[in-house]
Amino acid sequence: MAGDKGKRGSGKRGAGQGASFGTNTNAARTMRVRVKTARKRKNSSTKWLERQLNDPYVVQAKRDGYRSRAAYKLLEMDEKHKFFKKGMSIVDLGAAPGSWSQIAAKRVGSLSEKPLVVGIDYLDVEPIPGVTLIKMDFLDDEAPDALMAALGGKKPDFVMSDMAAPTTGHRQTDHIRTLHLCEVALDFALQNLNEGGDFLAKVFRGGAEQGLLDGLKKNFKKVHHIKPPASRKESPELYVLAKGFKG
Ligand SMILES: C[S@@+](CC[C@H](N)C(=O)[O-])C[C@H]1O[C@@H](n2cnc3c(N)ncnc32)[C@H](O)[C@@H]1O
Repeated sequence: MAGDKGKRGSGKRGAGQGASFGTNTNAARTMRVRVKTARKRKNSSTKWLERQLNDPYVVQAKRDGYRSRAAYKLLEMDEKHKFFKKGMSIVDLGAAPGSWSQIAAKRVGSLSEKPLVVGIDYLDVEPIPGVTLIKMDFLDDEAPDALMAALGGKKPDFVMSDMAAPTTGHRQTDHIRTLHLCEVALDFALQNLNEGGDFLAKVFRGGAEQGLLDGLKKNFKKVHHIKPPASRKESPELYVLAKGFKG
């Protein structure tokens, strides 16, 4: 898997800190909001809006100053598996709108003068203190060098990827595209991670495919599949966490 440059590009775009959400969920739970249908709005948009307005994680993210509800997935996973440590350097793949980078910067104590966190996305991300942001497609051949240059050549201790390909509505296609992103992310991790480092990536239900799983098991001491409570039950998303890069 490592060194397989051909992987990059082939799936191209066609494709706060704090404890787990825990009891805060209750704090955020308010009266259910109903959204009336409007002539110019599609039914699916009305449903999406209603879901957002009634999602306690969305409400809590606003209160906690996180840019998205995805923050709680990372916080919940870290609470259980304790991957963040002060001073470590981190690569955040698929960083927009930025909640994982927000958390990472705080957890590792990254300062704007000497950032320890670098995030990449082809979408714009509003500046985050302590985070270097790169606007680029991670599948571009230049992306790995750009990420490593942003870390000043220092090897990352943790590579995390929340990248997801835009959904097509066709489950199998979505699964394959997101799996491809995960494979390229792992490829990057295998070539650049510090020995002992960790890798976290989003996959879809069914977990990692055998080839990917073999690559993870061969190169890391422990591999976990995680479905954090903040990940919607109806969503096929799942995360693989590989700890202890053998180098
Ligand atoms: C679920 S969002 C990430 C949310 C983020 N973890 C947060 O907490 O704010 C997935 C992101 O992956 C990005 N993405 C998908 N494919 C990408 C690629 N090839 N290169 C860079 N970013 C990509 C998308 O643009 C999107 O912003």
